[in-house]
Amino acid sequence: MKRFAEVPIERVKSFWDARPCNIRHSPLEVGTKEYFDQVEHRKYFVEPHIPKFADFQRWKDKKVLEIGCGIGTDTINFARAGAEITAVDISTESLKIAKKRAEVFGLSDKIKFYEADAERLSEYLAPQAFDLVYSFGVIHHSPHPEKIIEQIRQNYVRKGSILKIMVYHRYSWKVLWMLFQEKGKFWKLDEIIAKHSEAQTGCPVTYTYTKRSVEDLIGDGFIIREKFVDHIFPYKISKYVKYEYEKEWYWRLMPQPLFRFLEKTIGWHLCVTAEAK
Ligand SMILES: C[S@@+](CC[C@H](N)C(=O)[O-])C[C@H]1O[C@@H](n2cnc3c(N)ncnc32)[C@H](O)[C@@H]1O
Repeated sequence: MKRFAEVPIERVKSFWDARPCNIRHSPLEVGTKEYFDQVEHRKYFVEPHIPKFADFQRWKDKKVLEIGCGIGTDTINFARAGAEITAVDISTESLKIAKKRAEVFGLSDKIKFYEADAERLSEYLAPQAFDLVYSFGVIHHSPHPEKIIEQIRQNYVRKGSILKIMVYHRYSWKVLWMLFQEKGKFWKLDEIIAKHSEAQTGCPVTYTYTKRSVEDLIGDGFIIREKFVDHIFPYKISKYVKYEYEKEWYWRLMPQPLFRFLEKTIGWHLCVTAEAK
């Protein structure tokens, strides 16, 4: 799993600065209320398991640390639910949009933003215990994911704090699909995954995990409470980029219960909830 350990963190930052995650989820002008509403609508339409996993309402009046907030779709929902949220990201450009979002919805006083490399978080954010540490689709994009977990364990939880992370699932339809795209060059699998994992090609770091290897990542400091996979992207990309939602023929013909079964077995998102010991 050390495949991307030598990638400089600056490359990670530049990649996300060049195109913050989900920035094209709406064709409207970036930064307006309508833009943010459309971004949120599309995100939770395509990834409907997120609100259930995050369980925003549960964190009312609780302290939440979000690692890798991107443009702040989940962040704003924690704030709306009444959480006291601290949001961290390495990408200056993503944070600008996330801050604008907080302003637009009148929630700036509910969210503290930090630009930081989560692998060295304690150099930026004073150690303190949070009730929830949440990180959706982030840790696997950092050269040393285990350092982020170590930061969380040492500095930002107390006994009973909850950790919720989503990392990419190695045994997934998406990985198989990427292999098809690259004519089955399985010996280059990690490279291929990084190339195709995001909306923009060529992500510098994308690790993937199995249900077993994610336990090693999380380590001994936590008890795993829930672990599940979900999410297959069923739409034609050529249509999706035009904000049209037409499924590939094979997903369209498939009975919904079978599609859900596949999402729950070979889905792309490996979601884990754990409790600090
Ligand atoms: C796929 S995006 C996910 C954003 C957000 N969680 C969401 O679901 O929309 C990954 C985010 O992780 C951030 N990131 C990657 N490595 C990081 C690190 N070492 N420290 C802080 N943020 C990091 C990127 O800047 C990017 O915004």
